[in-house]
Amino acid sequence: MSYPRVSTFKTPEDFQERLNHLGLNLQFDREVQSGVSSPLGQSVPFQDQFIGNRFCILPMEGWDAESDGKPTDLVRRRWRNFGLSGAKLIWGGEAVAVRHDGRANPNQLLINEENLTGIQELREIVESAHRERFDTTDDLLVGLQLTHSGRFARPNDGKKLEPQIGYRHPVLDKKFAIDSDDKIMSDDDLSKLIEDFVSAAVLSQKAGYKFVDVKHCHGYLGHELLSGFDRPGKYGGSFENRTRFLREIVSGIRAEAPGLEIGVRVSIFDFTPFEPGADRIGVPSVLESYNSAFGGDGSGQGIDLEEPARFLNLLQELGIKLVCTTCGSPYYNPHIQRPAIFPPSDGYQPPEDPLVGVDRQIQATAQLKQQFPELLIVGSGYSYLQEWLPNVGQYAVANGLVDFVGLGRMVLSYPELPADVLAGTTMPRKKICRTFSDCTTAPRNGIISGCYPLDPFYKEMPERQELLSIKKKMG
Ligand SMILES: Cc1cc2nc3c(=O)[nH]c(=O)nc-3n(C[C@H](O)[C@H](O)[C@H](O)COP(=O)(O)O)c2cc1C
Ligand code: SF4
Repeated sequence: MSYPRVSTFKTPEDFQERLNHLGLNLQFDREVQSGVSSPLGQSVPFQDQFIGNRFCILPMEGWDAESDGKPTDLVRRRWRNFGLSGAKLIWGGEAVAVRHDGRANPNQLLINEENLTGIQELREIVESAHRERFDTTDDLLVGLQLTHSGRFARPNDGKKLEPQIGYRHPVLDKKFAIDSDDKIMSDDDLSKLIEDFVSAAVLSQKAGYKFVDVKHCHGYLGHELLSGFDRPGKYGGSFENRTRFLREIVSGIRAEAPGLEIGVRVSIFDFTPFEPGADRIGVPSVLESYNSAFGGDGSGQGIDLEEPARFLNLLQELGIKLVCTTCGSPYYNPHIQRPAIFPPSDGYQPPEDPLVGVDRQIQATAQLKQQFPELLIVGSGYSYLQEWLPNVGQYAVANGLVDFVGLGRMVLSYPELPADVLAGTTMPRKKICRTFSDCTTAPRNGIISGCYPLDPFYKEMPERQELLSIKKKMG
């Protein structure tokens, strides 16, 4: 199955025609405005400051820290680019493990006393790069994303999962060879982990971050617990129990790091895992009812936002104002989470036009934004829009569908996009992310992540050849 490339939609009419063909109600502005009074250029008040525009850099790790979790030059380069982008909200930089066994790979950043100088330096790098280019950081907000990778932890060997799970899963256990209850984290294990999240938040505050993201997305532990409908004990079953992990972390942070803001990045819906079917096109792994999806409607491929809305209501009650919406997981249904025309090597060919996936995230986020106008909501999954990203983003912000346009992959290939859009500069075609997925395929094969096809820095690295030969072998 092939879909027309976004780069072939040369005019608003072309783009609209494709959206009509797909039956999508994805709206966009024909003209993109620039300057501080444009929809994307407007600032928004947050606590005692303003956030200076409506672009947000989404967290993106590179599998390239030291083995003890300290940043390397590659990490510092990425964060510097985040600062140079012009976006005024930096959502977490990248996932930082709160302890060693929760690392998603042996080169994930790790926050602890020994690594604190390096973690603090990352914030300083973002700020100094931003100040150099845009004169001030008064309207810049930088947070740190805190994580435990749970089912997808690979702390010691990039090829070896050392999972710690919330509950036995009907599909993922088989897929990732979990055949006993040993890997289930007990209530006591979770209590201990809550303390580790709180200690990590205290350290983040020391390092000067204004907020921490208590990560609840992408199949990692916080997210998995939200769908622990059958988990017994105080962290499973009822909505109250499934959100206890979050509530206890928040109450610990409030007690031990007063003044530190909290944000939550959450997968607001989830589908069944997908797998390659005929011609490697993705097919759902479960065709009957599927009851392991937070925000799912039970079919495995439908959305029910009732619980995600309860979750946002809870965040509001907890005094949390910053929310970043995303969906699914890059490990088991990447086409919904990061819509792409070229799948990562361990994925499957897209079962739908990736524009459908983009629209799904935008509409679900808009529904929640409508119900919670007081929250500041960042949306995700815009990179596939390519040339049309600013047009769709501007419409979404101007019409209250979302507060911030989150940028993931696009910032790896084209870090200056926010600054260019706000300056009214034409986007250079050769920098636009075409969703080749190399930044996902590389780490899935033990290679550091980066934009090998488009970023001249990565293009020249020896790892590019390695990646090309792996891709060739895989056909
Ligand atoms: C290389 C790479 C690394 C990522 N790392 C993280 C991460 O550390 N934390 C996180 O919440 N999401 C992570 N994501 C997901 C992105 O934040 C984002 O949700 C996703 O790429 C979809 O947005 P986009 O269409 O703008 O790329 C990562 C994505 C990529 C491509
Ligand atoms: S490797 Fe570059 S072009 Fe490909 S998806 Fe990642 S950022 Fe986009």
